[in-house]
Amino acid sequence: MKLVTTISELCALLAEARHAGRTIGLVPTMGALHEGHLSLVRAAKAQTDFVVVSLFVNPLQFGPKEDLAKYPRNLEHDRELLEQEGAHVLFAPAVEEMYPAGAITYVTVEALSQRLDGISRPGHFRGVTTVVAKLFHIVEPSRAYFGQKDSAQHAILRRMVRDLNFPVEIVVCPIVREPDGLALSSRNAYLNGSERQQALILSRTLRQMREHFANGEHDAAKLIASGQSFLASKPGARLDYLAIVDPDTLEPVTRITQPTLVAIAAWVGSTRLIDNVVLSPG
Ligand code: PAJ
Repeated sequence: MKLVTTISELCALLAEARHAGRTIGLVPTMGALHEGHLSLVRAAKAQTDFVVVSLFVNPLQFGPKEDLAKYPRNLEHDRELLEQEGAHVLFAPAVEEMYPAGAITYVTVEALSQRLDGISRPGHFRGVTTVVAKLFHIVEPSRAYFGQKDSAQHAILRRMVRDLNFPVEIVVCPIVREPDGLALSSRNAYLNGSERQQALILSRTLRQMREHFANGEHDAAKLIASGQSFLASKPGARLDYLAIVDPDTLEPVTRITQPTLVAIAAWVGSTRLIDNVVLSPG
């Protein structure tokens, strides 16, 4: 695997691969890699010939009071993991390489970016769409891999690709969880022992709602109320949102009549965690 830090080096490697007739897969990440990230790399390896993993802690998607400075960074370990998976290129640019001084152009998916995480993280999704649009232009992958874990993120990116005619197929991979149900996240590293236990409330709330749904409750308001009271009955987590929405538009639905996204975000201590499940009738 080659480690490259500049766009020009990356483009030279990509030109060679393309010349040899290889299809290109892109896995965008912010590093601190775990099995969730690696599942995307494996999917890319299975479906494309030349796999580029980007590792860039994108300042544009962090708010001024968020965890940009303390976000976990371990390039050497990430590099070893990707080497083992057989990725072809690790692209790890510096901030100045991605955002040369004076950059003032952004990509915004209107409306969707103001829903779910966009409410408590203003500007977050604009940062995501801008950096991913840049990566798509730089790498020109035929497929790009994202996790269901960030359900709003992939809905917004799918809309960007559709609205702006990016010639890329977005592939969404299932959520990878710990054996006890906690969704893997680089931010789980922030949790201390008791917070790690309290963090289970996200997946347990979703499981409780899924069971309620399976028992015949299809009314969104009632499902949300039962999820909220389940969460409130356990100490430790502070709810940001619990929403039942259309998985493409992220607009609230009132009754579940087709595959519908149940998304949750909560703070456990000072760590904000997210999780979700898709409920399908019949
Ligand atoms: P990051 O949080 O590093 O996640 C990179 C990719 O891994 C995302 O597509 C995310 O959904 C996926 N992922 C994370 N946890 C997962 C899990 N438990 N199971 C399956 N997939 C999982 O998301 C970002 O970075 C950034 O916003 C990025 C898209 C790279 C733009 O900066």
